[in-house]
Amino acid sequence: MEFIIIHQQAQPYIAHIQLNRPKELNALNLQLMQELRDTLKALDEDDQVRVIIISGNDKAFAAGADIKQMAGKTAIDMYNVDQFSTWDTIKKIKKPLIAAVSGFALGGGCELAMLCDMIVASESARFGQPEIRIGVMPGAGGTQRLTRAVGKALAMEMVLTGRFITAEAALQAGLINKIVPVELYLTEAFRLAAEIAQLSPLAVKMAKESVLRAFDSTLEEGLHFERKNFYLLFASEDQKEGMQAFMEKRPPVFTGK
Ligand code: HXC
Repeated sequence: MEFIIIHQQAQPYIAHIQLNRPKELNALNLQLMQELRDTLKALDEDDQVRVIIISGNDKAFAAGADIKQMAGKTAIDMYNVDQFSTWDTIKKIKKPLIAAVSGFALGGGCELAMLCDMIVASESARFGQPEIRIGVMPGAGGTQRLTRAVGKALAMEMVLTGRFITAEAALQAGLINKIVPVELYLTEAFRLAAEIAQLSPLAVKMAKESVLRAFDSTLEEGLHFERKNFYLLFASEDQKEGMQAFMEKRPPVFTGK
């Protein structure tokens, strides 16, 4: 891997991927996205991993797709490269993804953070969809996920002006989960990950899938989907263990079976 670092597992069941093109503020070129996709796919299949954290560095989570790589492209080049197939694969990752964001999360960087399931931010985080300022518009979900997260008014303002918003504004708008001082955003992401990692991984995956279904379905379809997953979890050993442990007044030990 050239543009991402897979950190040695510091805590059980938690994997940490760092985007690593610091000189370019982690601009997401095609190779970085392919490396990220391949790594996430492998981690999704690894029983020793239950939660995945994606971070950049203190200055930038990612300042967007690589403008220099895109600048000379034609529409047909873009069509043939089909860069969004990597994004489609990342969307299918079943394990929870936590974005640990400090500094710039712009354009594709903001979209990548929003593709994650939760966002922990440092006080210096800045979110924006500035594509309009370079003559294009968001292409990896910015007009859709941002609007669902923050509502029409703020999404329109961000997408049509390209303005950035602060971590505080992002929290108020419901885009992110938590703000902490810069020196603590990774610690906080690990704390959140650890809380989830001790739960039943099967229940966590199905719960994630069900919450995401809320964005793609009618209420009736979503409720139906939720109910099927709820029933399905009664086929798991973790359901037996979780309920038994409750009745025996002891902490459960979940195995993912
Ligand atoms: C390529 C980038 C880049 C990007 C920064 N750099 N963003 N290179 N693509 N998206 C490079 C700069 O060219 C520069 O390298 C180095 O990173 C440092 O950036 P500076 O601009 O010197 O830093 P600063 O003055 O602190 O400004 C930071 C910034 C600015 C406000 C984040 O860099 C910026 O506006 N970047 C572009 C943000 C953007 O428009 N993102 C949306 C991209 S389109 P050199 O070598 O030149 O000094 C997009 C479409 C998504 O994301 C579609 C789906 C994937």
